[in-house]
Amino acid sequence: MASANATQSVYLDYAATTPTDPRVVEAMLPYFTEIYGNAHSGHRPGRRAEQAVEDARETVARILNCKPSEIVFTSGGTESVNLAIRGVTLSEKGDSAKHIVSSAIEHSAVLKTLEQMASTNGIEYTLLPVSQEAVVDPETLIPALQPNTALVSVMAANNEVGTIQPISALAAQAKARGVLMHTDAVQAAGQLPLDVQALGVDMLSLSAHKFYGPKGVGALYVRDGIRLTPSQTGGSHEEGQRAGTVNTPGVVGLAKALQLAYDEFDERTAHYRSLRDQLIDEVLRLVPNARLTGHSEQRLPGHASFLLDGLDGNTLIMHLDMKGLAASSASACKTGNPEPSSVLLAMGVPYETAFGSLRLTIGKDTTETDIEYSVSVLAQIVEKLYRLRQNYR
Ligand SMILES: Cc1ncc(COP(=O)(O)O)c(C=O)c1O
Repeated sequence: MASANATQSVYLDYAATTPTDPRVVEAMLPYFTEIYGNAHSGHRPGRRAEQAVEDARETVARILNCKPSEIVFTSGGTESVNLAIRGVTLSEKGDSAKHIVSSAIEHSAVLKTLEQMASTNGIEYTLLPVSQEAVVDPETLIPALQPNTALVSVMAANNEVGTIQPISALAAQAKARGVLMHTDAVQAAGQLPLDVQALGVDMLSLSAHKFYGPKGVGALYVRDGIRLTPSQTGGSHEEGQRAGTVNTPGVVGLAKALQLAYDEFDERTAHYRSLRDQLIDEVLRLVPNARLTGHSEQRLPGHASFLLDGLDGNTLIMHLDMKGLAASSASACKTGNPEPSSVLLAMGVPYETAFGSLRLTIGKDTTETDIEYSVSVLAQIVEKLYRLRQNYR
């Protein structure tokens, strides 16, 4: 076991973001300086950039098993999700499309969008419950569908507890009732197959920075025949579905990163799995009171998450950071938020306990030594925090 006394630097927050792969940076560089034309301009510099964007679109389409014309480039996961939800609901006219079904454990990109649309656009929504392991039961979808349901949106895998959802079963239920299905696959990309035909989804959201691509660029798969009302108004870029000059270096980087993730899929996911299992085993064995959250098997290969009853996740993260371990509690977007994890609450964890969430996520360059160091630091700090807690009682 590695000693926790010598301070090392270990990053186990790959679900928050990943570094950009140097091969991706290399692919992007010419598009900042040499091939800088606006991909929407008719001249030669513009056409060179356009070619790069269309090549990127083809690469993404090949991996998702769809047509290039079905890929819309965006500024990231949040925008893709917004475009899917707002785009469908606002373009489906009248009272026949006023209802959306989603789940209680979606990312805030989905939940806040639904909340805002309910208060400003008269949209209603139903959130499906989850099991104690954070699984949405497809059987709960049927009674939740209404004659005016326009869309079902359920994430492919959860960002806080890593549980993988039965997307193809949910999509089949939605399709049988003529309702469109969107999945937020931001966490799944690079860790699960993303074949949109096999999944049976009509829309799928991606974000490049979760799979070793650049930040601020994403994609939305939109099945042929679905017309989205653009979330932002302006030019007629991206076939009129997303206004704004396309980020050429960004989409080149997204496509390169996605291609590398799927070219190296077997070795990367085997590596994630083996370190994740080592991490889970050692944490459960050596860290006092630690409990695994999420599904024990149906979870992302690189994702481990725990509950430390009676501890405050944010305090824990701070102490771990002082020992050089970058981890997270609840989701990255909620750091500093004094509310407990809404995902854990939806899974039936009591309010007081839901503050003690810890997420450790593995990357392609994580080593066994990193895991050993992290477990040793974690065990030491958790013991210390429990001791302090007792002294204050
Ligand atoms: C499940 C999920 N959806 C959406 C997002 C938002 O993606 P982005 O950071 O690209 O806006 C995230 C980011 O953490 C996420 O985990």
